[in-house]
Amino acid sequence: MKEYRILFAPSMKETVVDPGKSVLEAARQAGVYIDSPCNGTAKCGKCRVRVMEGSVSGVTAQEAEFVSNADQKLGYRLACMTHPLDDLTVLISGEDILVSDATKKIFSGRSTIINPAVRNYTIDIPGEDGRPAALIEGAKTALASRYGLKQELAADLPALQQISQAVKEDKGTVTALVWEDREIIGIQPGSDLKRLGLALDIGTTTVALYVCDLRNGYILSSGSVTNPQALFGAEVMSRIAYSANHRDGTKRMQQELMSSVNALIARMAAKDGFSAQQIVDATVVGNTVMHHIFLGIAPDRLGLWPFTPSVQSSVKVKARDLGIRIDPSSYVHVLPIEAGFVGADNVGVLLSAEPYNKDEVSLIIDLGTNGEVVLGNRERLLCCSCATGPAFEGAHISCGMRAMPGAIEKVRIDPATFEVDYAVVGTEGWASEHEPDHLRPAGLCGSGIIDTVAHLFRAEIIGEDGAFLPGRDMPRLRTGASGVKEIVVAWGGETATGRDIVLTQKDIRQVQLAKAALHAACRILVNHLRIESITRMVIAGAFGMHIDKENALAIGLFPWCDPENIDLVGNAAGHGAYLALIDKEKRKEADRIARSVTHIELAREKDFQREFLNALSIPHKKH
Ligand code: FES
Repeated sequence: MKEYRILFAPSMKETVVDPGKSVLEAARQAGVYIDSPCNGTAKCGKCRVRVMEGSVSGVTAQEAEFVSNADQKLGYRLACMTHPLDDLTVLISGEDILVSDATKKIFSGRSTIINPAVRNYTIDIPGEDGRPAALIEGAKTALASRYGLKQELAADLPALQQISQAVKEDKGTVTALVWEDREIIGIQPGSDLKRLGLALDIGTTTVALYVCDLRNGYILSSGSVTNPQALFGAEVMSRIAYSANHRDGTKRMQQELMSSVNALIARMAAKDGFSAQQIVDATVVGNTVMHHIFLGIAPDRLGLWPFTPSVQSSVKVKARDLGIRIDPSSYVHVLPIEAGFVGADNVGVLLSAEPYNKDEVSLIIDLGTNGEVVLGNRERLLCCSCATGPAFEGAHISCGMRAMPGAIEKVRIDPATFEVDYAVVGTEGWASEHEPDHLRPAGLCGSGIIDTVAHLFRAEIIGEDGAFLPGRDMPRLRTGASGVKEIVVAWGGETATGRDIVLTQKDIRQVQLAKAALHAACRILVNHLRIESITRMVIAGAFGMHIDKENALAIGLFPWCDPENIDLVGNAAGHGAYLALIDKEKRKEADRIARSVTHIELAREKDFQREFLNALSIPHKKH
């Protein structure tokens, strides 16, 4: 009997199943978590996945209620209703449309100025002087006389195509959408149109989207999705290699990204009551490799010294030229790159944290698959980038997962009894306080991984070198099936997959490599700026929002700073993209600061290797 091999991205876990098994069953067999509240009866629609390669059974009528035709064409399916007819590659799409409270928490307490690049101007056509003129010339005259705009405004073709119908519909009263007071990008009937903007943060592992009302800056909808480029490699170097080694590699990665972004915009629009066509402006941040692939630029040069990007300044491009399905006339403004791997995402972080307006020296760390570090103040800013890898996003960790409902986000270990307790995203309090079925965990996310390592170290279950110490007799510590030592964080009877959730010796090594890269990068900048100590630290990144500062310091994730002076600010890169969306002056500020930051190339730093080796220890070797 033929068996099928099913590969799940982004975890890249694989399993072999007999015909007749569903993709959901295959995922459970592989230990891959897929949210499935109705337990595979096609009633909840939560088990959406994207079949990237291989053929599968047809869509049933029941399934079609949850997956639109457009999404079916992109390979979206319900895992519980889909049966392999071939070997498959399946992307756990990780779509998550946040409730507004979650977004408010991320973007709270930050003042904003409403000064968008696209404005509405209500006019009557023909112009006030009543002279007959071609419609668009009449519109330009009205815009000049009523609002003082230049008569030589450009007009995009769709605006010319819309104007005749718009004039007919509301007795000549129309709203012109004007970009930067330079180009008419749309003409709609009536007045006071809803104008929306999209801020897009393209991470190596996760893509975050924020849709806001450009009239008041209010966030209407936000969501995130797994970057489908995970199929081509977990980190930026493997994406560069894919581009370099495949003729249409960049194009394929760009198309997959756009498909996921477009599908998520459509779902956010349906859920939060807007139309994608109402989005008339967009800003984008991302690390240098993501930035290039988003624009369809081969990132190959970034793989070779001196790691020169193809473009460094900000880029404006029509949405229709990128294939992003918002108003096709709108511009997508991609923020500038600082240097090498320090990309537009870091510019977004700087716009959000504004160290260049402060006297106090801050160390700003953007924690993601690629870690970016900035140190300085209004006098001088240094930046560098380090390859932390995807461990903190839960990838390449045996039971790792993104911080989403079902992920263990907090762990504590009793040093006397070695008993483990944990807290799960989506529920309040510790597991020991709940009935066993309250919310079953499915894996460990970054903050849970850091907590586990910190508590293992404090309880002297692992040593400074990260290795499990001999002589610890406890039921949770064992040698796993692959012959590697591991600690059981949650027993199979408590979990959503029915399998034990463990942290292995190899996983701990991954954490050590990631934290050593970050710690060493911070030390190099501190040495360059010749400061004695760090008095203010800002931790950005969606995962950084959830870390326990004491535990992060306990494993030496970064150099010492009083925890009171460490601010966890969430997705600051996305917040920077949002600021540039609602205040066009921020785009100029971004261009200015991107040019003024001094980039430190770690690969050329003679002390980096020494700092890295010192930082492999837990917490780190003393200097
Ligand atoms: S598990 Fe509910 S629809 Fe598939």
